[in-house]
Amino acid sequence: MHTDTLQPEILGQIAAAASPEALEAVRVAAMGKSGSVTALLKTLGGMTPEQRQTEGPKLNGLREAVAAALAARKAELEAAALNARLAAERQDMTLPVAAPRTGTIHPVSQVMDELAEIFADMGFSVATGPEIEDDWHNFSALNIPESHPARAMHDTFYFPQQPGDEKRMLLRTHTSPVQIRTMMTQAPPIRIIAPGRVYRSDSDATHTPMFHQIEGLVIDRGTTLAQLRWTLETFIKAFFEVDDVALRFRPSYFPFTEPSVEVDVGYSSQTNRPAGAGEVDRWLEVLGSGMVHPRVIAACGLDPEEYQGFAFGTGVDRLAMLKYGMTDLRAFFDADLRWLKHHGFSAFDVPTLSGGVSGGLGA
Ligand code: DAH
Repeated sequence: MHTDTLQPEILGQIAAAASPEALEAVRVAAMGKSGSVTALLKTLGGMTPEQRQTEGPKLNGLREAVAAALAARKAELEAAALNARLAAERQDMTLPVAAPRTGTIHPVSQVMDELAEIFADMGFSVATGPEIEDDWHNFSALNIPESHPARAMHDTFYFPQQPGDEKRMLLRTHTSPVQIRTMMTQAPPIRIIAPGRVYRSDSDATHTPMFHQIEGLVIDRGTTLAQLRWTLETFIKAFFEVDDVALRFRPSYFPFTEPSVEVDVGYSSQTNRPAGAGEVDRWLEVLGSGMVHPRVIAACGLDPEEYQGFAFGTGVDRLAMLKYGMTDLRAFFDADLRWLKHHGFSAFDVPTLSGGVSGGLGA
């Protein structure tokens, strides 16, 4: 067949090839060992030099045109295949996750995140301390000397003491030693919260040997009880997501505060939430607090004439139970997947003040 008719015919077949396989068949039929273009190229050998001079460039032109058309069509088909695949595998990243939700955020972690968010907004940073403490940080510096009855009340887990040990080591019984560690390493003004695990040798429906507390500490010049009251009120309102809350300050005793107050939150049985004075029908004790004892401030090397402060401490597990309605504390630490599924939170429910601190309420 002649070049002039062969070229349009092959180019037409290339254009019509709808798949890589069809294109490959066209290529073999033209450029393969016994292909039509190959056959024509073979005829060059039998030509006279004059014929070769005119036919050679034509045949080479044919070969190049076919090769270029094959390459172009191949690229076209590949691009089309890629686009089809992309369209088929398209993912809408704005859709909610469809996978079954297996892991959840534990209510204790959720509540700690909520507290950090609420107090961060009031200018508090998060401080931490060791769970294995010495008795000076856990007791003595907090104005609980060796013979003090409060030591016995704390049901402390002590580590065995070796002869010659300078310090008696223990599992901290409260987060209050973080107050001491903070005052000894940071210059006032201090505004911290310290959430974490604490340990006491005690176990029933409302007590577990390990539980969680959160401590708050403010140290500055001219700190007052009124500021404590405002801080706690603001915190309770934000935490329970209510506009109004009645608080009752009851005189109490803690060795590390003077005066000491226990704070009750007014509760409405109707809404099952903290409420304003008009709707309160019972009181729940939620916090211990007070003005930091001058002896505690002095133990940390600060001058109590210059600096005052307030502190508060409460149980995180208890706060979680009050807010989310769990009744048995022991279930918090059973690692029962059914309980976690029911009471846990989605990892996407990050507590924010703008989005609502409690996220999806058990999702
Ligand atoms: N540490 C106390 C406890 O475990 C709680 C507490 C009470 C902490 C009063 C404070 C406070 O900071 O001022 O029972």
